[in-house]
Amino acid sequence: MAEKEADLVTDLLQHLSISDRVNSVEYAAEKNVDHQKIVGVIKSIQTHVGVVDAKQQSSSTWNLTTEGKSLEENGSYEFVIYQRVPEEGIAQSELVKDKKDKIGFSKAMSNKWIKMDKSGEKPKIVRMDGINPVDKVKECLKLVKNGESIPDKDRSDLKKRKLIEEIIVKSYEISKGENFTTKLQKAATDLTAQMIQDGSWKNTDFKDYNYLAMGIKPQAGHLHPLLKVRSVYRQIFLEMGFTEMPTNNYVESSFWNFDALFQPQQHPARDAHDTFFIADPAECNTFPADYAERVKKVHSEGGYGSQGYRYDWKYSEAKKNLLRTHTTAVSSRMLYKAAQEGFKPCKFFSIDRVFRNETLDATHLAEFHQVEGVVADYSVTLGDLMGVLQAFFHKLGIRKLRFKPAYNPYTEPSMEVFSYHEGLKKWVEIGNSGVFRPEMLRPMGLPEGVNVIAWGLSLERPTMIKYGIDNIRDLVGHKINLQMVHDNPVCRMDF
Ligand code: PHE
Repeated sequence: MAEKEADLVTDLLQHLSISDRVNSVEYAAEKNVDHQKIVGVIKSIQTHVGVVDAKQQSSSTWNLTTEGKSLEENGSYEFVIYQRVPEEGIAQSELVKDKKDKIGFSKAMSNKWIKMDKSGEKPKIVRMDGINPVDKVKECLKLVKNGESIPDKDRSDLKKRKLIEEIIVKSYEISKGENFTTKLQKAATDLTAQMIQDGSWKNTDFKDYNYLAMGIKPQAGHLHPLLKVRSVYRQIFLEMGFTEMPTNNYVESSFWNFDALFQPQQHPARDAHDTFFIADPAECNTFPADYAERVKKVHSEGGYGSQGYRYDWKYSEAKKNLLRTHTTAVSSRMLYKAAQEGFKPCKFFSIDRVFRNETLDATHLAEFHQVEGVVADYSVTLGDLMGVLQAFFHKLGIRKLRFKPAYNPYTEPSMEVFSYHEGLKKWVEIGNSGVFRPEMLRPMGLPEGVNVIAWGLSLERPTMIKYGIDNIRDLVGHKINLQMVHDNPVCRMDF
């Protein structure tokens, strides 16, 4: 039965007081406990300075391997083969059936225990005349097993055959130290008020400080990687003078999500396959009536230099509630508000959740986060957009940008943004952008001459790249490993 450490400490010290020297391996064998446990006991005695001296030694012993054990029991392969050769001889094919027989056969041949007899009709294997072999391998293995020594030559043969292996044992040779005692005083760890009052601190043995000990980690919450990356984006927007938009409404009307953005009512994105519509309340009717009239007009008849889509725009479609599919829904509300309040140049940003009825896979979930920036001012141009994007991504450490013409119903021109990823060694798409159409801005009441540039990107994508996560389900959702959240480092964007 394993003894308690405290008992072993007392026992070992008692042992030392009688015998002067104790070897940890021998002591472990005597006590029938694991050597490692005795090492632990010695370490704990060593925390009391000067009680014992311990010198580490290393010695080696030889052990039988699994194969060695089996040969030690059943005899060597060569001896088994020899025994299986009958008086009258045997065909080689009958004698040698498997790998072990093969080894045994060749050893028995080179030991000259058996030979090939070709005098008869067919060649056969017969025993050598006048010999009486002994199974030396088996005998040597037995000696090793009992811890006895064998000649070097035999040992190296057995080692070569992988029948024995050398085990290095690190042991301690323990002797009495200058403060040797069999009764360890537990050193005090705290200076108490009591000790000061009664003066006992003067004779108390205090435990030394361990200046190298690690402090206890404080229990604290941990930011999810998405939140860490979000704070980096937010900081950049704030540095660039942008104001955060209120994004606290996941439920939005089709009006602000689509119609206000000059997205036609028959656009495929407005299908239930792509968008989550709300069943209850299914409709909203709080959007401004005069503005809605102007939106209706620009969709169905055109205006502001546009011919519109020329279809029958319906309130019933605009009223449908949905989970917003992009944060541009919030941008449209904010731009309308800016127009109502007497337009002043403004810069807005948002970072929040959006929802799409997508097929889920390793990189897509039905809900994700968008980062969006919007700049509204007189005479801003596509050149301004490219410049702002350069500045924005530069702050993230992204220097190489490329723009590719794209299409959005609400921007013209539109550009996808690509950056060269040094780690992945390729151009990756990092965002979408454009100049908002007059068909979107003028009905809002933004003055002639005011242009709005905007861009959007997902938050998940840079986060996955940053933290080396290749399956989005390892980043978001009920299956994520909370330890991942606990362990991941602070976010510094250095793509
Ligand atoms: N709303 C776009 C999207 O969901 C992003 C975007 C924002 C594009 C602003 C242009 C301007 O992908």
